[in-house]
Amino acid sequence: ITIRLATIDDLQGMQNANLSNLPENYTFKYYLYHLLSWPQASFVATTTDPELLEQDETQVTDIKKDTQYVRSGEKIVGYVLGKMDDDPDSTDKETPHGHVTSLSVMRTYRRMGLADKLMRQCLFALCENYKAEYVSLHVRKSNRAALHLYKDTLKFEVLSIENSYYQDGEDAYYMKKKLKLDE
Ligand code: ACO
Repeated sequence: ITIRLATIDDLQGMQNANLSNLPENYTFKYYLYHLLSWPQASFVATTTDPELLEQDETQVTDIKKDTQYVRSGEKIVGYVLGKMDDDPDSTDKETPHGHVTSLSVMRTYRRMGLADKLMRQCLFALCENYKAEYVSLHVRKSNRAALHLYKDTLKFEVLSIENSYYQDGEDAYYMKKKLKLDE
């Protein structure tokens, strides 16, 4: 499995992975906006290993059904979609900071350290390329796997709870991690 910078050709595969893994989905235009505005902030995990692909029959069927899932025999098994915060209503316009819009790993490729690696690449890139001083994200209160990754593995801190942040009414933790180039 390879982790590399995401390109425009990967966007369809990233959107497909997002649709399979999360209820929070975005328009293709929004994916494009990320890559055009911050081309060095999003990463994909891919595999070309036929054995891995074979083990994973439902996804092989998906590949046959949807050829956009694969790019030159490569399949996207995880992604992180990163950006700088350019929200005009941002509560912190003084300090340049990044935001992780979305992260997910396909089910059969979980617990292999991929999300950890994708996140570390993204955080380093936001700091190095866009001078982000910290990075923020939202996560569902009930998302144990993601909370473990952010809190325990990556040492994000919970800044606040945003009530009914998600469409189904669930609250979000708003989390933040300071970035340092030498870390
Ligand atoms: N329960 C408890 N801990 C877990 C779980 C779990 N189900 N899954 C992973 N972890 C822990 C791992 O043990 C590891 O901890 P360690 O550093 O102490 O060893 C750490 O989390 C990182 O594990 P990875 O293997 O890197 O994580 P993985 O590649 O499995 O991906 C992810 C984690 C992205 C949360 C995955 O489960 C997933 O895609 N879930 C569905 C989509 C999702 O919830 N995305 C995050 C939404 S928030 C956002 O996008 C900003």
